[in-house]
Amino acid sequence: MARKKIALIGAGNIGGELANQLVQKQLGDVVLFDIPQKEGVAKGKALDLEQASALSGADAKVSGTSNWADVAGADVLIITAGIPRKPGQSRDDLVASNLPIIRDVADNAKKFAPNAFSIVVSNPLDAMVYEFQRRTGFPSAKVAGMAGALDSARYQLFLAREAGVSVKDVRTLVLGGHGDDMVPIASATTINGIPVDRLISKEKLDAIIARTRTGGGEIVTLMGTSAYYAPAAGAIAMAEAYLLDQKRLLAAATLLSGQYGYKDLYLGVPVVIGGGGVEKIVDISLTGDEKAALEKSAASVRKVVDVVKSVA
Ligand code: APR
Repeated sequence: MARKKIALIGAGNIGGELANQLVQKQLGDVVLFDIPQKEGVAKGKALDLEQASALSGADAKVSGTSNWADVAGADVLIITAGIPRKPGQSRDDLVASNLPIIRDVADNAKKFAPNAFSIVVSNPLDAMVYEFQRRTGFPSAKVAGMAGALDSARYQLFLAREAGVSVKDVRTLVLGGHGDDMVPIASATTINGIPVDRLISKEKLDAIIARTRTGGGEIVTLMGTSAYYAPAAGAIAMAEAYLLDQKRLLAAATLLSGQYGYKDLYLGVPVVIGGGGVEKIVDISLTGDEKAALEKSAASVRKVVDVVKSVA
């Protein structure tokens, strides 16, 4: 059986780290795609990774290209094409630069990889994944946005450090849009089954939630550009769930058709990802406060989606 083909659209910081993690995990052969001006970077990263695999013993192939024909027949597309944030910018400030890019990627994805499971990472995430699905017309089960896995991981790490326990023992869900009003769900947060508020004070929990919400910005301020190791790991979790039919329950941006009271909107909610893509949207009941927070977050996402819709 041939190895699966995973095409990374955007061979920048996240694209390179995605390729690295995919090779380490041997999930398939990797194509690193970028624009013609960056073809050398894509090819160089591919070669560097293949040489590293001589030491690690990984057999997966990695190639770099700026030719969409090389993406043809991909099983998975992970899209990071676009400009990342600079200090002082919000994700929403990226609409003007990233909208034409996601449209270009959507048109080519439709032509060259119509059967792939597409994972969008480009920001502003919820609006970009909405536009990608709308423009390609791909079934919504085959198009998801990566944000919840990353935001949940950030929350998970901060909680684990505060409680002094392994990151493995913390379970969290962060829902809503991938913005500063994202919604960490306290009622779904446990430390190996123990409700988190029995182990961490409300004051500490509130501070951790605030840090999680601005977790991306914290890194942009430190590095001058946005994070890439954890965003790559988030997208890998989703790709792996699809490729290995794991039926993982993860927070991801998915197209809602009435769940949580929203329609025609991509928003982060718990989904089950398996061989069919987004196989199920898990509609859990939320507390009044959580619902209100989700409403605020959804309103922010809708504002950006309205901007996207208004640009022909
Ligand atoms: N097709 C393919 N690739 C493109 C296109 C396009 N039309 N336009 C730009 N790119 C490429 C750039 O040339 C660059 O190499 O996308 C790559 C983005 O890489 P980085 O600038 O390193 O950005 P990165 O940190 O990887 O983030 C990418 O993901 O999390 C989001 O906010 C982040 O929107 C940003 C995206």
